[in-house]
Amino acid sequence: MAKARNTVFFCSECGYESARWLGQCPACKAWNTFVEEPAAKKEAARAGGGAKLRPAARTKPAKLSEISIMENDRTSTGFAELDRVLGGGLVAGSLLLVGGDPGIGKSTLLLQVCRKLAAAGKKVLYISGEESLRQIKLRANRIGEITGELSFLCETSLDAVQETILAAKPDVAVIDSIQTMYSEEVASAPGSVSQVRESTNLLMQIAKGEGVTIFIVGHVTKEGVVAGPRVLEHMVDTVLYFEGDRLASYRILRGVKNRFGSTNEIGVFEMREQGLAEVENPSEFMLDGRPEGASGAVVACAMEGSRPILLEVQALVTQSNLGIPRRTAAGTDANRVNLLMAVLEKRCHYEMGRYDAYVNIAGGMKMSEPALDLAIVMALVSSLKDRPLDEKTIAFGEVGLSGEVRAVSQADQRVREAVKLGFTGCILPQICLEKLDTSAFAGKIRLTGVRNVREAIAAL
Ligand code: TYD
Ligand code: MG
Repeated sequence: MAKARNTVFFCSECGYESARWLGQCPACKAWNTFVEEPAAKKEAARAGGGAKLRPAARTKPAKLSEISIMENDRTSTGFAELDRVLGGGLVAGSLLLVGGDPGIGKSTLLLQVCRKLAAAGKKVLYISGEESLRQIKLRANRIGEITGELSFLCETSLDAVQETILAAKPDVAVIDSIQTMYSEEVASAPGSVSQVRESTNLLMQIAKGEGVTIFIVGHVTKEGVVAGPRVLEHMVDTVLYFEGDRLASYRILRGVKNRFGSTNEIGVFEMREQGLAEVENPSEFMLDGRPEGASGAVVACAMEGSRPILLEVQALVTQSNLGIPRRTAAGTDANRVNLLMAVLEKRCHYEMGRYDAYVNIAGGMKMSEPALDLAIVMALVSSLKDRPLDEKTIAFGEVGLSGEVRAVSQADQRVREAVKLGFTGCILPQICLEKLDTSAFAGKIRLTGVRNVREAIAAL
């Protein structure tokens, strides 16, 4: 029996639209991601949201030489850590998505950014669909006094938001969060794929048309519940993820996409009583509270963009009581750990198959750079033999399948960071050592070049 079709199906991962349910999304190849939603009133949506702002789109093509750009077009957010992730500051008219688990501190961060921008003379509008004005005020009181033109609005209707932004003409606006916003043109509930997509589209037009920098907060929810910000990633200029262990106090802001800068940078923050504070030296922070003379702990140096970070790799290798030994990895790639254990088994003849192994990056940081391989291998063997590595020594290098230690990038920066934090020994790939200007480190740090895993283990 024919039925009037007034629902469509969306992939909750990438937003792909289909007239019928599909097991696998043809666009992003994800399985079981299709959700049914009422069809948007297409004509109304297109003509409505679009037409009000569209005239700007009827502009003529221009040559690059005719386009004027202002030097120093970037505004500092007042947080050096955030500026670095953004590639030097905020670009006017850009649309930024700040994603992260609920309760991680997105609203706090953005409120602090708003406060700093307002103090620097910008006109800022903070729109919240989640909290009442009283709740915002309570939070703001903890953060500090607010000066300048910072105003707040509690609103979930996007049409009202649009009106307010067009009337108030702020320099920066914050939408907290996109999942609570709804457009009258779309029939489905707030937080659904079509609502989120339509709302972002409208905000994009406002940002580009009016030159307002707009921050969008997006919750990362467990799969399938509501549209994850992945749907939005294609539409916005910059995607920042705020991550970290909710129980640990530090938070990491990671650039995942950036049309105006590199994406490798991270910013490190610490959640305090008075909101978020910048952590200028993350290595110190990560190594805080390190046990002395313990086996199975090796300090490694990973690069996050242009910044070296020292962190402790911990391994615990114990006799297994099970047929299939347990292997877990926290903070790093579990498959990589399995691979490294296979290398140890085959190339160094350790009977890893008889042992359970747990690998952890202390501090809860997530890091999967291959340069951690050597430290993981050394930590595993150190724990297996119960022989600690000198606690003032770091190790970095990629381990290949034949047990060779391969070169990693920016070796001199990693060594310099180790020297800065008072380490006196460094185990690094031989190839890196040969290329390094060792005279700069003479007398400060003992550099040991290793060609394969066996040579590195000899250092234990
Ligand atoms: P919040 O910014 O509300 O998270 P999100 O918007 O990402 O959901 O952060 C809430 C958490 O931060 C909450 O657990 C309390 C904590 N917090 C502090 O520890 N200190 C502070 O000064 C503030 C404002 C929040
Ligand atoms: Mg919030």
